Amino acid sequence: MSISAIEKAKLLTGNVNFVIDDILNSKFENESFDYILDRGCFHVLSVDERITYLNQIKRILKKNGMIFLKCMSKNEKNIPDDKGPHKFYRDEIINYFKNDFDIKKNKDTVYYGTLKPLPKALFFVMKKLVKL
Ligand SMILES: C[S@@+](CC[C@H](N)C(=O)[O-])C[C@H]1O[C@@H](n2cnc3c(N)ncnc32)[C@H](O)[C@@H]1O
Repeated sequence: MSISAIEKAKLLTGNVNFVIDDILNSKFENESFDYILDRGCFHVLSVDERITYLNQIKRILKKNGMIFLKCMSKNEKNIPDDKGPHKFYRDEIINYFKNDFDIKKNKDTVYYGTLKPLPKALFFVMKKLVKL
């Protein structure tokens, strides 16, 4: 999350603690969070960075923690493939997460925002697997 995003969010919220972090080199301690919401971060990372991201997500989520992930869908045809974020097939996301997460839910959706038509997206709800 960027500084300008935090400034805007502060104007819209009450007693919320906003912290800037780099998910590829996160300063949060192990098992800090019950929930993580990723709306459009994973899909801007490079292939190599995705593995680092996964390791960090696993590390900072509590046992049984959940991640809510929204990313651009391969079904999005109005944005050229060489512009904008990476577009994912559903199974690509499942393959990235399935070893460490229980995929509770996934659905086709859109990015609500200023782009018209609304870009096609995928949404996943995934629970961290507890490994003994
Ligand atoms: C496509 S934008 C999505 C912005 C916003 N979440 C939304 O849905 O409109 C991608 C976001 O990922 C953030 N991002 C990229 N790499 C990151 C990293 N390593 N750690 C944290 N955030 C990152 C960028 O700062 C940017 O805000």
